[in-house]
Amino acid sequence: MEWWKDAVVYQVYPKSFKDSSGDGIGDINGITEKLPYIRELGADVVWLSPIYDSPQDDNGYDIRDYYKLLKEAGTMEDFDRMLLRAHELGLRIIMDLVVNHTSDEHVWFQESKKSKDNPYRDYYIWKEGKRQNTREGLDTSKEQAWGDEPNNWGSCYSGSAWEWDSTTKEYYLHLFSRKQPDLNWENVLVREEVYKMMRWWLDKGIDGFRMDVISLISKLPGYPDGEAGESGYTSFEVTANGPCVHEYLKEMNRKVLSLYDVMTVGECSGVTLEEAWKYAGAEEGELNMVFQFELMELDCENGIKWDLKPFDFIRMKKIFEKWQTGMYGKAWNSLFWNNHDQPRVVSRWGNDSGEYRELSAKMLASILYGMQGTPFIYQGEELGMTNPGLSIEECRDIETLRMYQERLEAGCSRAEIMRSVHAKCRDNARTPMQWDDSPNAGFSTGDPWMPVNPDYKTINAGAQLQDEDSVFHYYKKLIRLRKTYDVFRDGRFTMEYKEDPDIIWYTRTGEKESLRVICNFHELTREIKLPDNEEWGELLICNYPEIRKETELRPYEARMYLV
Ligand code: GLC
Repeated sequence: MEWWKDAVVYQVYPKSFKDSSGDGIGDINGITEKLPYIRELGADVVWLSPIYDSPQDDNGYDIRDYYKLLKEAGTMEDFDRMLLRAHELGLRIIMDLVVNHTSDEHVWFQESKKSKDNPYRDYYIWKEGKRQNTREGLDTSKEQAWGDEPNNWGSCYSGSAWEWDSTTKEYYLHLFSRKQPDLNWENVLVREEVYKMMRWWLDKGIDGFRMDVISLISKLPGYPDGEAGESGYTSFEVTANGPCVHEYLKEMNRKVLSLYDVMTVGECSGVTLEEAWKYAGAEEGELNMVFQFELMELDCENGIKWDLKPFDFIRMKKIFEKWQTGMYGKAWNSLFWNNHDQPRVVSRWGNDSGEYRELSAKMLASILYGMQGTPFIYQGEELGMTNPGLSIEECRDIETLRMYQERLEAGCSRAEIMRSVHAKCRDNARTPMQWDDSPNAGFSTGDPWMPVNPDYKTINAGAQLQDEDSVFHYYKKLIRLRKTYDVFRDGRFTMEYKEDPDIIWYTRTGEKESLRVICNFHELTREIKLPDNEEWGELLICNYPEIRKETELRPYEARMYLV
C-alpha cells in the first residue's frame, strides 16, 4: 500500500529536539514526550536523524555500532517505549540509515586497518599511493603528501578524500571526514551485514528508512581522477550515481524492503531527473522517493555552497516545474525546504525581519504544500524558526569549522568567511528547538550543547499553539487540506506566470477538481489577472486575515483556491 503518498513527515534532529535528562543534549525520552505535539501538527511519520552509538565526529552520521544507541540518547528500552507510543498515536517512525560509511571506531574498521589480510580488510576501500613505491618527489617528512593520494577525489569536509594509514601503508577512502571511512559495497559481505542490520531494526517495528547519501555507495571503477576545483580536489559527488547503485538497491529491496510495509527515501545529491526515475520509479523496485538538491544550489556559485550567489527566482520556478512535471506518473517526489543540513528557509528565501517573518514563512509553505510529493517538515520550520547568526566559536559543525580554517589559510578575510557561515552553515538548523519562553526555550534544564536562538522569547511552540493565526496553525491547516482533497496527491502540474519576477502561480488539475496556488514571493504589492472566462474558485487558505482585492497580492501574500 502506498500510504507514504498521503503522509507528511516530520524530521527530528534528536540532539536538538528535547532534553529530558538535563545534560543539555536531546534524547529519546524527550522525543516521546513531544510525540503528541507532532501528531497535533498533523504529521504521520517521524524521521529520526541518527541516534546510534557514535563518537559524534559528524553528529551521529559516524556510526560506531548500528545495534546500539548513543548513551546520551537513552536506552533501548527508552527506544521501544517511544516506538510503542508513536504507534499508539498513529505515528510511524523512520530511522536514518547511514551505510555509505561507518565511524573509524566501528569494529569492522578497527579490524580492517590491522593488516592487509585481515578478514575485514575488504569491508573498506584501501588503495596504494600513486607514487608510493618510489616515493619520488614526495616530502618524506610526512607520509601523506599532496599528489601521492590514489586519486584527486575531495572530501565533503575539505581536503583529500584519502587518508594515509601508517600500519599497512595504504590509503583509505573517506568522502566525508577521516573518521568516516567509506564502506566497500562491492563486497557482498558488507551488503549482507547491512541487510541483516536493516532487518533487525524493521523486526523491531520501525516503519522505514531515510537513506543517507545513498547515491554514493557505488564507486567509479578504476577510481579515476576527476575534474578538480580550485583546491586541487574534486567535489565529493564525483562518484555519485555509480554504475552499480541500482543493482545494489534492487538487491536491498528484494532481500529486505519488499518483505515489510515500509517507507524509504534516499538522499541523492547530484541526481538528475533520469536517475531519479530509476531510484524511485514505481516499477523499479528500489526506493519510494529521493531527495534531490537542485533548489538548494540556487544560491551557490558553481555549485559551491559557501560561494554565495544572488538567488534566482525564475530559475527556482523552472526547477519546480521540471521536477513536478518530469516525475509525474513516473516516480514520486519529496518536498522540502529545510533539513538538518540547510539554513532556515525563512531567513534564506523569506524575510525574517519583524513584520514579514510570519507572512513569508506561510507563503513559503504554501508554495511547497500545493505540490505533488511527500512533504518533509524539519523541526521548528512549522514555527518559522530563523537562522541564529552564530559566531565561529559557537559553531559545532565539522564542515563549517574545516571550511573556515581552509579559507583562512587560503587568505580569505574573516568577514567574508563569516558571511558564508551566517548564510549557509548547517548549525543554522541545529540550535535547540524552541518550545516556550522559559530559560533555554524549554529545551533543557541544563546547559544546551548548542546556543539557543535568542529570538525564542517571541518564536516558540507554546505561544504558537495558543494563537490560531500562527505559522504552526497555518502548517496544520495546509496538512489538513492535503488530506482532504485528492487533487493535492494526484493533480497534474502546470506552471503559470513563468517569467514573472515576483509571482509563483501554478495549477494542479485533478479529475474532480483543480487547485490554484498563487504566491507573491516579494515585499511589494502586485496586480494579477485571471484568464478570461475563469473563476477564482473557493478560497481554501490565505496567509492574510482577508483578501482585500482578488486582483491584488500584498507583500508575501499566498492563496490556494479550489476550482
Ligand atoms: C548526509 C547527512 C549529513 C552528513 C553526511 C555524511 O548528507 O545529511 O548531515 O553529514 O550525509 O553522513
